[in-house]
Amino acid sequence: MKILLLGNTGQVGWELNRTLLTLGNLTALDYPQIDMADPDSIRSLVQEVKPHIIVNATAYTNVEKAESEPELAMAINGIGPGILAQEAKKIGAALIHYSTDYVFDGTKGLPYTEEDQPNPINVYGETKLVGEKAVQEVGGTTLIFRTSWVYSLRRPCFVTKVLKWAKTKKVLRIVDDQISSPTWARTLAEATTQVIAQGRNDPIDYLAEKSGLYHLAGGGYCSRLDWAKEILAFDPRASEQKVREVQSAKTIDFPTNAERPLFSVLDCGKFTECFDLPLPDWGESLSLAMDGF
Ligand SMILES: NC(=O)c1ccc[n+]([C@@H]2O[C@H](COP(=O)([O-])OP(=O)(O)OC[C@H]3O[C@@H](n4cnc5c(N)ncnc54)[C@H](OP(=O)(O)O)[C@@H]3O)[C@@H](O)[C@H]2O)c1
Repeated sequence: MKILLLGNTGQVGWELNRTLLTLGNLTALDYPQIDMADPDSIRSLVQEVKPHIIVNATAYTNVEKAESEPELAMAINGIGPGILAQEAKKIGAALIHYSTDYVFDGTKGLPYTEEDQPNPINVYGETKLVGEKAVQEVGGTTLIFRTSWVYSLRRPCFVTKVLKWAKTKKVLRIVDDQISSPTWARTLAEATTQVIAQGRNDPIDYLAEKSGLYHLAGGGYCSRLDWAKEILAFDPRASEQKVREVQSAKTIDFPTNAERPLFSVLDCGKFTECFDLPLPDWGESLSLAMDGF
């Protein structure tokens, strides 16, 4: 089985590079070997590699910067995935693609299901939604996994920011009105790999049967404040922390260019039922991710 992984230096891509290796012949690359903003780059790569499965972990993920670079974000998140889906369909390959809880406006007040109507409130969310639709409209074998609050200890993210602030500040102020599910990049990579492995005898047919949109995130949910407190508690270098107090704040206290959905928890019941895979609790995963970091 030939697998093409795009975005292998990103948070999720780096983990996928390790887990997908167990499934067969893996070609893994990132920008500039593939430029998702350039349709010709996508077309020539897929035609050259001719994979059975493509896993797309590339994305323009800087939510703030997307507000001032909407064209680039749209090219990478909105248009590129559609081209990738077209090329996959031409050669009969399956495409696994990731999207985000930020396609929702965060006003539902209950976990979002796949049936809920998206209504993005920032450029990043808008471009990711365009990408989802572009992939779906091609109508090939495509699985889209929407996820939330992804972290890894390898790249700058909320977890590494909190650890850094804790070393330099005595008081941290963290918002308690943004609520979602922290998702360890490794959990996403393992779940994706297990899904492919379930169809080992005939992965293309299996994935065709399972084509669709799924919510896939860490189990349970919390506020950014609760998440930050757990990060500090699990910090293996807690003795180096200067922080003495963690205060709760509100999103409105920190004006940003991009608006964030306040309650963007994803109901992952469809994924767990369809693939019979449990999703580990976010806190358990966090403690494992930070163990020995
Ligand atoms: N991070 C989150 O909190 C979060 C939340 C919900 C959903 N997601 C989704 O989860 C998926 C994986 O996200 P992640 O956190 O692993 O993202 P990430 O760490 O930012 O990785 C994205 C990868 O895409 C690459 N890339 C950027 N522009 C590219 C281009 N023009 N052509 C090819 N590659 C390009 C990046 O390369 P460079 O490093 O060189 O830029 C990076 O390797 C994405 O679909 C994302 O939208 C993420």
